[in-house]
Amino acid sequence: MNTNTVLEVHDLKRTYQLGSIPVHALRGVSFQVNAGEFVSVLGPSGSGKSTLLNMIGALDRPSEGTLAIRGTEVGTLNDNQLAELRQRVGFVFQFFNLISRLDAIGNVELPLTIAGVPAEERRAKAEQMLEKVGLGDRMHHKPSELSGGERQRVAVARALVTDPSFLLMDEPTGNLDSVTAGEIMDLVDTVNQDLGMTVIVVTHDPDVSSRARRKIRLVDGQIDSDEVNNN
Ligand SMILES: Nc1ncnc2c1ncn2[C@@H]1O[C@H](COP(=O)(O)OP(=O)(O)O)[C@@H](O)[C@H]1O
Ligand SMILES: [Mg+2]
Repeated sequence: MNTNTVLEVHDLKRTYQLGSIPVHALRGVSFQVNAGEFVSVLGPSGSGKSTLLNMIGALDRPSEGTLAIRGTEVGTLNDNQLAELRQRVGFVFQFFNLISRLDAIGNVELPLTIAGVPAEERRAKAEQMLEKVGLGDRMHHKPSELSGGERQRVAVARALVTDPSFLLMDEPTGNLDSVTAGEIMDLVDTVNQDLGMTVIVVTHDPDVSSRARRKIRLVDGQIDSDEVNNN
């Protein structure tokens, strides 16, 4: 493994058991991602994109094959180790997944609370991160008091506050209008370029995938193409 490799996936398979019927969501997928890359994962509905992202985010385990995050093989970890690894992955979802009774800063602090970071330190880090995503004046608003774009900014801040190995986004603009989607992707561009954060984004939206230098296309649980755009 190259020291610059943050993710190494080899012949990854995931089969769901639907009653007695096996569903082959991933049929052997291999690729590597280096630090600082911006990768989009495209493909029709049901092609295995979310399944792949969930495994990269250590939310789910492979049925076969291997997946290593910064050289740590995910398949060999026990539940505690997996939970620890999950803390080093920044996940952003289509429907934001914020806690409605917590304000913006409470939501951003949450992963630090779980990680046992002392109160003062986590408050300071969460404030910094909310300022970075342009929400310095919205820290005490609850999700219901924020627009869709602002909610997604909170989700991005929450994903980044633990200084994760990479930022994983599953249809992050799927619930936003196109102008707001563009603003969120501007933010993601900045995070990628200024912080050097590795970004893997699953999307249907060509405007979103056009931001990424590298595009991996999944069809029926397999990689159909994996191309780097040189313009
Ligand atoms: N928990 C599950 N149980 C059974 N089948 C599933 C489950 N999750 C996903 N699938 C199936 O696996 C395939 C890939 O799903 P998914 O990864 O969600 O695709 P995508 O995100 O590309 O739309 C689909 O056929 C889907 O129906
Ligand atoms: Mg999906």
